[in-house]
Amino acid sequence: MRPIIAPSLLACDFSKLADEVNMINSSTAEWIHIDIMDGVFVPNLSMGVPIVEAIHRHAKKTMDVHLMIVRPERYIEAFIKAGADVLSVHIEACLNVKAVVGRIKALGIKAGVAINPYTPVTALENVIADVDVVNIMSVNPGFGGQELIPSTFEKVIETKKLIDRIGSKALIEIDGGVNLDNAKALIKAGADVLVAGNFVFNTSQPTATIEKLKASAN
Ligand code: DX5
Ligand code: ZN
Repeated sequence: MRPIIAPSLLACDFSKLADEVNMINSSTAEWIHIDIMDGVFVPNLSMGVPIVEAIHRHAKKTMDVHLMIVRPERYIEAFIKAGADVLSVHIEACLNVKAVVGRIKALGIKAGVAINPYTPVTALENVIADVDVVNIMSVNPGFGGQELIPSTFEKVIETKKLIDRIGSKALIEIDGGVNLDNAKALIKAGADVLVAGNFVFNTSQPTATIEKLKASAN
């Protein structure tokens, strides 16, 4: 299976944002991953609604917006209006994740839930039937350029089993530390979407790197 590749703009050169988005447009990546951080849920700050709007003016690919913010329900409409096609919220950041997911879906886009490395897969049980994407964080959220936590592989297998048992249609997305050394094993374990920031943007030919990730299951 060829995975969906979602280059993460967190690792791009923000002084050339339009060029970076156009690079993704011209590549075999289907999604653009956009990390939103509030300095509370995670220790870092990143971008907000106006930047997502700017990306949307150039993007020809699916805009996959990952909210690493507390009480994400406050900003759902704003990010959808700014161009999000997939909106993921952290299960740890919501009082009632089922209600938040329901609201995202009612507004007509795809909904995702993200879980931190030390949140167990069982936390997904009540919501997995409702979501389009499960983002399994393979690093502690907040920063790009970290190494993938090895227990991720087991977690992907467990999530895949849960998806099959419940009959959910959710795609499994892996976020953090993805590279050509681990992509094949992640896909074998059940991953459908691979997010890659530094591994794509810190290469001289990012479009070629994207295609290598895409072909990595072979
Ligand atoms: C981390 C972010 C990731 C990050 C991935 O908090 O959610 O999406 O951009 O970056 P790399 O691929 O460099 O680990
Ligand atoms: Zn992310």
